[in-house]
Amino acid sequence: MDSMFLNRLGAAFLLSGVSVWMCSAVGSAVVPQTAPAKPAFSLPGLENKPIAPFMAHADAARGDALVHQVCTSCHAVNEGASDGVGPNLSGVAGRRIAGLSSYSYSGALKGQQKHFWSDQALS
Ligand code: HEC
Repeated sequence: MDSMFLNRLGAAFLLSGVSVWMCSAVGSAVVPQTAPAKPAFSLPGLENKPIAPFMAHADAARGDALVHQVCTSCHAVNEGASDGVGPNLSGVAGRRIAGLSSYSYSGALKGQQKHFWSDQALS
């Protein structure tokens, strides 16, 4: 190995390090690492309200359309279908939280396994 090769190798490592550092600095400046001031999806004034009165007037067809619009990009909703990015939601109402053996849930959701998905919990 001649000294020129070692110089080039050192320069390559140095440039790679500087590039990674610059990308990280620019990324941190452009994408804030704090929680958003306003939730992306908010239900003003409806958080933590009992769901039962709303269920009395629920429009199942509209709910079905919304689920297909918003949720099915990650969740299958047909019985027996494979899990997607998220677990299959067929029969989720009344099911144990993180209750599918086929899906690898996060530790946070697994920690809720003694509870069930009631209408209120889903809300
Ligand atoms: C961007 C992907 C994505 C979208 C869109 C999404 N989910 Fe999920 N969902 C997930 C993931 C991933 C999990 C598993 C989370 C975990 O393990 O902590 C999950 C978990 C769930 C669970 C828990 C299921 C169980 O077996 O305990 C429910 C209920 C749920 N989602 C409902 C919905 C509904 C309703 C919508 C639409 C309004 C929706 N999700 C949209 C990715 C998504």
